[in-house]
Amino acid sequence: MIRRPRRNRQTEAIRNMVQETSLSLNDFILPLFIIDGQNQRVEVKSMPGINRFSIDTALEEVAACVDLGLTAFAPFPSIPEPLKDKYATESHNPEGLFPSFIREVKKNFPQVALITDVAMDPYSSDGHDGIVENGEILNDETLEVLGKMALTQAQAGADIVAPSDMMDGRVAHIRQVLDENGFQKVGIMSYTAKYASAFYGPFRDALNSAPKSGDKKTYQMNYANSREALIEAELDTAEGADYLMVKPALAYLDVIKLLRDNSNLPIAAYNISGEYAMVKAAAQNGWIDGEKAMVEILTSIKRAGADVILTYFAKEFAQYLKK
Ligand code: PBG
Repeated sequence: MIRRPRRNRQTEAIRNMVQETSLSLNDFILPLFIIDGQNQRVEVKSMPGINRFSIDTALEEVAACVDLGLTAFAPFPSIPEPLKDKYATESHNPEGLFPSFIREVKKNFPQVALITDVAMDPYSSDGHDGIVENGEILNDETLEVLGKMALTQAQAGADIVAPSDMMDGRVAHIRQVLDENGFQKVGIMSYTAKYASAFYGPFRDALNSAPKSGDKKTYQMNYANSREALIEAELDTAEGADYLMVKPALAYLDVIKLLRDNSNLPIAAYNISGEYAMVKAAAQNGWIDGEKAMVEILTSIKRAGADVILTYFAKEFAQYLKK
């Protein structure tokens, strides 16, 4: 035999030398759940190791993560029920929980990148990402709310706004609103191919943001489709997105690869709550080695073509690197 692929697997030094994909802390964005109140640090039951923080403890968490070498964070607010309404009015209240958190982070850690979520669901009494009228999700009316929300976040100091709602035309609208108000430098990380997924459950528990009626299938994509992701990618690119995101990540590695092969923009992938919960649940049962599974999953997402990975594992991975 002339060709023996096993030669390149003989020793760890050789294996490391020919390794094609390596993870770096620069690849990661850590999502953070922000709640009202003070001195709060409440674990999300379905996401062992992940907490919901009030602003003060969230700042401590950011400090700890910065010490570990993480530089990018994606906060999500959990809004108290009485502040929710049909039009997600609280989402553009400059004194609200979320803009206050953004200001505090940028004041204390000007060096970190804050990627902020633009979507109505945490603020909506209907639990949807758009305005609901007679059971229908209104597209163009929702854009107005998203524009105001993105502007409020930019004014508070967000580096990059990330629309996760899947309304048509939202990237163009947000870009226009930001530019008209002098925020040319604020980037847009678009949730380009966001699928209607069963894996969002733990996130919706964490934020108490599940839809009150119906599902999200009229705006989030059908998971059976991949060519449709190219249509979304084309539109987001034309509308001015600075990053294209695929979400979820693990059951969608082919879609990550598809966008990577068809775009020169940075590709982000969101390793979501349910993907995290599965690993933790199996590891807690002693059924898999959670740490090894974490590294393998993150590597697979990068191997598929993601430049940026949003993952609840980011802090644990940073700790693992320090070992
Ligand atoms: C909605 C949104 C969702 C997530 C982020 N933003 C879920 C949903 O569509 O209900 C999920 C993230 C995760 O599961 O980790 N705007």
